[in-house]
Amino acid sequence: MRVCTIVAAVVLSALPIVAAAQATTASPEPDGAALYRQNCRSCHGARGVPPARMLTIYPTLKTLADSTVQTRMTVDTIVAVLRHSRGKDMKPFADRLSPAEMTAVAKFVKTFASPAAGSTGP
Ligand code: HEC
Repeated sequence: MRVCTIVAAVVLSALPIVAAAQATTASPEPDGAALYRQNCRSCHGARGVPPARMLTIYPTLKTLADSTVQTRMTVDTIVAVLRHSRGKDMKPFADRLSPAEMTAVAKFVKTFASPAAGSTGP
């Protein structure tokens, strides 16, 4: 019983150290795919094709996977949209994502250009 308590105490006291170590050794490149899932997928769809339901709510939603849209967009223009918003429904993300995170998400959006993205629609 006593051993248990000591083990628990040691584990608990080590937790902040582990958390701090993770924070400092985190990879310099944020996970764009994960950030996209958390922040963009609900409207833009998992691979840049918006769900029909979302199009009824936001009729201006673009198919980010569309080849014409992909040709027009660069990582920089996507980041600019994230910084400054677009239209009335694409809100700015500057208060939620760091510059590095916005770049990582933008790079992930550019991966939709690959044919593996599947159907892109008209
Ligand atoms: C609430 C729904 C919603 C969310 C969440 C959302 N968007 Fe959008 N997004 C829109 C709509 C609507 C537009 C079209 C705006 C317009 O042109 O009127 C748009 C436009 C864009 C465009 C411009 C496309 C073009 O034609 O140039 C980009 C890039 C974009 N979104 C990326 C993202 C990324 C990356 C995220 C996540 C960080 C995100 N969006 C999250 C609704 C959303």
